[in-house]
Amino acid sequence: MPVITNIDDLKRIYERRVPRMFYDYAESGSWTEQTFRDNSSDFHDIRLRQKVAVDMSGRSTASKMIGQEVAMPVALAPVGLTGMQHADGEMKAAKAALDFGVPFTLSTMSINSIEDVAEHTGAPFWFQLYTMKDEDYVRRLIQRAKDANCSALVITLDLQILGQRHKDLKNGLSAPPKLTAKTIANLMTKWAWGIEMLGAKRREFGNIVGHVEGISDASSLGAWTAEQFDPSLDWTKIEKLMEQWGGKVILKGILDPEDAKMAAKLGADAIVVSNHGGRQLDGALSSIRMLPQIMDAVGGDIEVHLDSGIRSGQDVLKALAMGAKGTYIGRAFVYGLGAMGQKGVTTALEVIQKELDTTMALCGERNLADLGPHNLLVPQDFCGRWQE
Ligand SMILES: Cc1cc2nc3c(=O)[nH]c(=O)nc-3n(C[C@H](O)[C@H](O)[C@H](O)COP(=O)(O)O)c2cc1C
Repeated sequence: MPVITNIDDLKRIYERRVPRMFYDYAESGSWTEQTFRDNSSDFHDIRLRQKVAVDMSGRSTASKMIGQEVAMPVALAPVGLTGMQHADGEMKAAKAALDFGVPFTLSTMSINSIEDVAEHTGAPFWFQLYTMKDEDYVRRLIQRAKDANCSALVITLDLQILGQRHKDLKNGLSAPPKLTAKTIANLMTKWAWGIEMLGAKRREFGNIVGHVEGISDASSLGAWTAEQFDPSLDWTKIEKLMEQWGGKVILKGILDPEDAKMAAKLGADAIVVSNHGGRQLDGALSSIRMLPQIMDAVGGDIEVHLDSGIRSGQDVLKALAMGAKGTYIGRAFVYGLGAMGQKGVTTALEVIQKELDTTMALCGERNLADLGPHNLLVPQDFCGRWQE
């Protein structure tokens, strides 16, 4: 059994275990991948202030996200095709999150369906919505999330059109993988993945196949989703979706202070400062760099969460000290899932919690609520000096 001490350890095992097509799908950003790289490297530019001779006993990472108690403010982000990273991936990740005490967000583009996850965990989870042109399908999807007792709707706003990731096109990404000479050659080296996948509950998009007329196989599905994302989504439509849902709403993909103000005006429960992990607008600034401006604009009006680039508990602490009330991990939990299934997701969460707790102690803090700018050393021009 390998000794796992950090998220990179999980990533190395993940890379060995999972077919190249799905590894590449997770491990890429759009176009030049500048934003993808910046998301993590900008966290490294922020340093921490060490404090000594402070009583560090009785520390806690417990907190709340949108009023929900969490063991630490780190939710699992919605990740499409999670069930291709490991058999029954969404069910396993959701169970790991539930047992750990953090929220799990199920993607619209998941392999396991809303109903699979609800049945497997028997507990509320969050559902992420992509809006499609087919309004009737969206209405039914929202109703299915309500029926499954989902406790928040996460509406993603930054993917009305797909950012191009070169590797996905070159690999011919599909779920399940199409059997070409290249994929067969690769799959033969990933036999453990393949054997588990043979026993998986599903290998196609569970929220879509069987719920939309005319979809019989996954190959037509790729084209269908590309056509179906609604390019006309605007604030009026978002407001309607919020009304349809009628429960807690998180608006995901906000990177601009004016957009953050609109989200607050609409009465969302939280926003996620996010650039989709660098997978959409390449050249956009990292989430952590945009956070201060967004906190200035809406920090007092709405709960602000952040994702993109988090690979450690130290990154989580930096985001919290800059004002975020919650964070999400995407790839960090996918590495764990691909490496070791449910246990790997638990390990990823344990690693992050331990790093968060130790860093908090060495910064002289016992509670997350006490974190603030006084814990950080932020480069003077961190937010950038850009022309107006
Ligand atoms: C492989 C992959 C698939 C994703 N699929 C979705 C999705 O279906 N819906 C969504 O809102 N965000 C999706 N995201 C974005 C994540 O929710 C999150 O914003 C991002 O992963 C955060 O960056 P990180 O991976 O650096 O933590 C995806 C991200 C990855 C890496």
